[in-house]
Order: sequence, then structure tokens, then C-alpha cells
Amino acid sequence: MSETERKWWKEAVVYQIYPRSFRDSNGDGVGDLRGIIEKLDYIKSLGVDVVWLNPIFASPNDDNGYDVADYRAIMDEFGTMADFDELLEGMHARGIRLVLDLVANHSSDEHFWFQESRKSRDNPYRDYYHWWPAEQGPPPARWSFFDVEGSAWKYDAPTDAYYLHYFSVKQPDLNWENPKVRQEVHDLVKFWFDKGIDGFRMDVITFISKDLPFRELPAKYDGNFVQYYAEGPHLHEYLREFNREVLSKYDIMTVAEGPGTTTENVLDFVDEDRRELNMSYHFDISNLGHKDLAKKLMDPAGWDFREFKRIFARWDAVFREKGWGTVYLGNHDFPRMVSRWGNDAPEWREISSKLLTTFLLTMRGTIYYYFGDELAMTNIRFERIEDYRDIMTINLHKLIEAEGGDLAEFMESQKLIARDNGRTPFQWDASANAGFTSGTPWLAVNPNHTEINAAAQEDDPDSPLNYFRRMIRFRRENDALIYGQTEYFAIDDDAVFAYTRTLGDRKLLILLNFTDRETAADTGFDYEGAKYLFGNYDGFDGRLKPYQAAILEI
Ligand code: GLC
Ligand code: CA
Repeated sequence: MSETERKWWKEAVVYQIYPRSFRDSNGDGVGDLRGIIEKLDYIKSLGVDVVWLNPIFASPNDDNGYDVADYRAIMDEFGTMADFDELLEGMHARGIRLVLDLVANHSSDEHFWFQESRKSRDNPYRDYYHWWPAEQGPPPARWSFFDVEGSAWKYDAPTDAYYLHYFSVKQPDLNWENPKVRQEVHDLVKFWFDKGIDGFRMDVITFISKDLPFRELPAKYDGNFVQYYAEGPHLHEYLREFNREVLSKYDIMTVAEGPGTTTENVLDFVDEDRRELNMSYHFDISNLGHKDLAKKLMDPAGWDFREFKRIFARWDAVFREKGWGTVYLGNHDFPRMVSRWGNDAPEWREISSKLLTTFLLTMRGTIYYYFGDELAMTNIRFERIEDYRDIMTINLHKLIEAEGGDLAEFMESQKLIARDNGRTPFQWDASANAGFTSGTPWLAVNPNHTEINAAAQEDDPDSPLNYFRRMIRFRRENDALIYGQTEYFAIDDDAVFAYTRTLGDRKLLILLNFTDRETAADTGFDYEGAKYLFGNYDGFDGRLKPYQAAILEI
């Protein structure tokens, strides 16, 4: 087997910060860049290599910055360009790289381009977006993720036409078929690379090429919009052009948010010989356990652990020889890691969170770790729709209400899956508002901050926070965990996840008990001569305690 080519971004642990919720420096209730600057030493202390910030560009915040009104300006609430420059410098001075979020499938409707585009049918910016003239009759159905009626077409009276918006009505889709639009995106990306940033995460980049001229959806995609949106005819042509014109000229990393990517097609994006992107992240894991994905309803039976294992193993296999994978268990679009995949009941919260941290940091691929998960922060589980701030939850609630659907079921599901669960402010300490803000937080602080917070965990060697730091160091000191190949064992066991990571003559065995019961570790290995190296209990005696994670050298 060929040796994987070594690259800094393959070895990286990426720490994702949702800037709105990290630290508010001026008391307006919204996290900001100066707040991140204040906490740079904390970030450094974690041992992470890269920080990815969710969008920080000028935005009316219909979708918290995923609706950009000016790609070259900083959002007022987040600060100024001078703050940004200081932040970037502060990160680089600490040896941390900075990755921003490119939201280029759509812009805000308040972007100058759209303001012009909607003025007249012959405006020079008309073709920056997708328009359907009303005289052609109603456009073929397209689903919108955030629309109160579920439709991705919005009628716009001034020019008697509909515009396309896969997300909210305030997020019109940019027309990548227009070479001028692609040039604009290239230019703005260069602008940020020339400032010295180290890469981009690319928001729904799989959706950029549209199926012009918008025919009826082929029957095989009925209901499966994500897949259809991700298979646009010119997608790879645009990515290769992007790579050739811009990306290949800098030492940066790129990672696609890859809804609709599958184990069959993902190498088309990340096989290095194709010169498109470095990495992509898929949704197979995050989609587990849903009863209705579009309406975000969860299956009361929960998620299937064996399927979870099979998905990881299947994706891992794709990148054995080519490309490179990504591993994550949470981000700003998903609930808290420990609430979703571990057990956030008081007696299991810390230990199961350490299990998940061990899992993430022993997998092959670049690790994406979501801020606050290092504290084992939990879902807030709002009871009332008024407590939510996320457009997705609010608009789905309206849609289900209008359809006469089961709102109680929806609200229960939201406690498990709503994005706001992962967006509540970072819990710095036990004081009012968790040390996040001196004002009124934009989204409620979890009342459990009096117990779960960074200050309390800082001096406790056994805290999830310090476990995370140790685990990162352990990964860095053991190359096999980064570049080693993976082999899976006991794949049908319904409690244990077991795999080895092998590099040269080093072989590490990772044993993870995902349940709250003690269990045998029937993996086929003889543990006699094995050496215990690392884990969340004091050693390993041949059986696995509840939520035990053990790393052995064999
Ligand atoms: C991506 C983002 C999500 C956003 C959506 C629209 O899925 O991660 O937060 O709402 O795109 O931009
Ligand atoms: Ca602020």
C-alpha cells in the first residue's frame, strides 16, 4: 500500500468556533472578534492546530451570517477589519491557523448584487441569480430547507419573476453558470488568502451548479432534493476552475460541506489527482435516527449503533489509497455531541463525553471538534418555540402548523436535534450568563453553566477539558493515530466499537464501550501481552466498564 502523502491539514485538529456564542467583549449579548482575541490563550491551551470560524462577514443575520451582504466586510456586531487583522495575527503568533467560512452558493438578498438583480430584467446583475419569468407559468417544484411553505421559488413583483432560494427567502442562490459570478467568488477568496488566512470551509458547495433550465425533477429523485442538488452538471468543472485559478496558488486547506456526497462520489471532490478540494464532510452520521429528515423529526427508537459503526468504516475505506477524510460528531448545525451520541445524564455525562473525544481523536482523517464539546456541554432542550432563534426551527414550526401537523412531536424532536442546542453561549464560568456576556445573551445560556463550565474544569485533572488536552497531545505523539491504516473488529457487536490503527510496525487497538453497562471486549485479540496506553479509566482489565475508552498497544 502506498504511503499517504503528509500534509499539515491532514494532521490537524480543527476547533470550530461559532463566533456569536463564544465570548461577548462589549456587553451587547453577541459574541465578537474581540471576544475571541481575549480567549486566544485558552484556544492555544487546547492544543488545536486550526480554528474554523463560522461566517464573520457583513450580514443581516437571517441565518446567522450564512446570508452574506458584503464578502469583504466584517459583520458590525462582530467588530472591524482591524479586529480581524489583530485576531489573525494573534492566532499565527500562537502557531494556530485560521479557516473562514465561504458562503457562495447564495448571498443575502441585501447584497448589492441582488439589490441590482431584482430591479429590472436587463440590469447588468440580473444573471447573478436564478430567475424564472412568471409568464412561463409556475416554476417546477424545488424544495427549500428554510421556507415557511417549503418552496425554493419566491415571486418578486418588480420584475414579475420568481427567484431561486434553496435556503431562506433572504438567501437567493447565486448563478454559478454565469462566468462573472465565478470570477467574483475567485476574487473575494483571493482577497482573504492575500490577507493570510489558511483556508476555507465551503458552505453547501455541492449545490452550486444548477439543473438549468429547471425541468421537472426526474422521478428517481422524488423527495430526494439533497441528492439532486448535489449532482449539478457543471459542479466539478467549476471546482476544477476554482482550484486552477485560485486554490492551487496558496498553501491553504479546503473542506467542502458535502451534503449529497456519497462513498461512491466523494473521491470526485477530493482525489488529489483531480485538483478540486482537499476534504469534504458527509451527512450519513448526522442523518442517523431521523424519521423524517426534511421536517427534522426523530425516530423514537433512537439511532442504530451498528449502522453508526458501519458508516464510519465504509467512509474510512474510501480514503485508504486516495483523498483524505474528515471526522466530526457535532457542529453548528447539530446538537451537542454528548447529548446526541453519548449520555448526558449526570452520572454518565463526563465519562461518555471522554469516550467520544477518544473516538474522534483516534479516527483516521482530519478532526473537526466543536467548541464547548470539550466541556461536555449539553443540549438546552427548549420547551417553547419562543426560546428558539434559529430560522430553521422557527420556519419548520410554521410549516408544520400550517399543514396541521403534530407540533408536540416536532417540539420533542427539536429538543434532540435543533441547531440552537449547539449554539447556546460557551460556558466560561458559574457567574451570571456563564461569563459569556455582561448583557443579555442573544440566545439563552444553559442553566447548567453553574456546574458545567471551563473555570471549574481548568484545575481538575480529570475534567473533560483536561482529558481533551491530553488526548490531543497523545494523538500528536502517536503518528499511527494520524496516518495509520484502520481495521475494524467485532463490527456486529452492539456495545463495542473496536479498531486498530497501524503504521509501520506499530499497532494500536482502540476499544470503546458505547453503553452504560459493563461488557466483554470480544474482539478476537489476546489482551495478555497488550500494553495499556491511554483511556478514560485507570486501566483495562479485559472487560470494558460503562463508556470505557481504552487504547492498547498490541
Ligand atoms: C450550511 C450551514 C448552515 C446554513 C446553510 C445555509 O448547511 O452549515 O448553518 O444554515 O448552509 O447557508
Ligand atoms: Ca458583542
